[in-house]
Amino acid sequence: MSAIAAENAITVQNLLAAFEGESNAHAKYTAFAAKADTDGLHGAASLFRAAARAEQIHAANHARVIGILGGQAEAEIHPVEVKSTLENLKAALNGEQYEIDTMYPGFLQEATERKNTAAIRTFHGALEAEKTHARLYAEAIALLAAGKKDSWIGEARDFYVCPICGYTSETEEEHERCPVCNCPWERFEIIR
Ligand SMILES: [Fe+2]
Ligand SMILES: [Fe+2]
Repeated sequence: MSAIAAENAITVQNLLAAFEGESNAHAKYTAFAAKADTDGLHGAASLFRAAARAEQIHAANHARVIGILGGQAEAEIHPVEVKSTLENLKAALNGEQYEIDTMYPGFLQEATERKNTAAIRTFHGALEAEKTHARLYAEAIALLAAGKKDSWIGEARDFYVCPICGYTSETEEEHERCPVCNCPWERFEIIR
């Protein structure tokens, strides 16, 4: 017997898929961060850690909505394939791009048709945060591919992560509030 109302079945299915995706992204980025540190790419490691934290926030947000809708958040964590840091960055960017172009827009559309405000909010926050990850990964890839290890990718650095939506920035105070969810910037987590 399921406690999930029939009209929410697809929304919950989508939330579960997103929860699983974010949980695996967290595991993947954590492993990639360790590899980047081993490679002496400490700034890239900082970025992986910041993005990993953001994906954890997304997973928790999705889990909360799954619970509200009567479901249970469960994810299968797959073994992580760790390659060179350049390849890891490319794999990370590919994953973000899939979520930005395909997964979240589809899920958002379905939740919007259902007028499911809680699902819309968690999908929207994740979608916008993934765009910040894609931008930063693309920048790191360009620097590493050009051999610029003396740039920010080489040295551990602070990233700022919104504790509500996972928006990630390399700038200490980009705005007064999170541009996605309006959380005050002073509440942002500093991840190094
Ligand atoms: Fe992300
Ligand atoms: Fe935010």
